[in-house]
Amino acid sequence: MNAPAPMLEIRGLTAGYGDATVLHDVSLSVPHGHAVALLGPNGAGKTTLLRVVSGLLAQRQGEVLLDGERITAAKPYQRARRGLCHIPEGHGIYPSLTVRENLVLHTWRKDERTAIARAVEHFPVLGQKLGRRAGELSGGQQQMLAVVRGYVADPRLVLVDEVSMGLAPNVVDQIFEFLNVIVRAGTSLLLVEQYVNRALEAADGVVILTKGTVVFDGAPSAIADDVFEHYLGSATVLR
Ligand SMILES: Nc1ncnc2c1ncn2[C@@H]1O[C@H](COP(=O)(O)OP(=O)(O)OP(=O)(O)O)[C@@H](O)[C@H]1O
Ligand SMILES: [Mg+2]
Repeated sequence: MNAPAPMLEIRGLTAGYGDATVLHDVSLSVPHGHAVALLGPNGAGKTTLLRVVSGLLAQRQGEVLLDGERITAAKPYQRARRGLCHIPEGHGIYPSLTVRENLVLHTWRKDERTAIARAVEHFPVLGQKLGRRAGELSGGQQQMLAVVRGYVADPRLVLVDEVSMGLAPNVVDQIFEFLNVIVRAGTSLLLVEQYVNRALEAADGVVILTKGTVVFDGAPSAIADDVFEHYLGSATVLR
């Protein structure tokens, strides 16, 4: 019997901007229900990779498969309909809409009332702010609103870019707890994170990207000390 296709598979991906090639022949996969941390120094191409996966940037070569289906030619909204949710750096919420409107925007597969109730169950503080404009929330509350899409949109694969940027540690704890909950419920996760120790705690697998090339792909415990020091030693918090 063949092994099931991974939730996300990237094969031989090359991409860039203008004359610059940022990703060079990158391959990686995220198995169903797993969290994979995508780590690496500034400018390695992590954000670029997430943008290619969600269809915001076209690849030059290579393929992206979602649950075994090639999505390389699909538009971002078509990828979202197939269960992909990209939570970009800087939230990706709509500041002039209310909290409730931001939540409802992503509920196409769910009954709105249930979805809001479940979002509030994860982040009770949002329940007190449903009528407020999202732009008036604190940074931490905005990030909670951003990540709760990872539940409300009922995705199969969530891409998260630097979710803890600029947040207080207790808010980061809550957000990581939420990510753990959705992974335990079967959602697959590709996590780009500056706090290496947090990412390694949350992840089943790690891919280290440097200058657009994969230099490590394996279990967190399999990262040799010299590899860690060399590629991740400048990260914000060490393990
Ligand atoms: N819109 C763009 N146009 C041109 N070059 C870009 C653009 N976005 C990123 N780059 C370049 O692509 C390279 C990879 O950037 P990217 O943002 O993907 O890295 P990153 O790993 O996410 O870095 P960071 O850890 O700083 O977020 C960098 O050299 C960057 O300057
Ligand atoms: Mg980035």
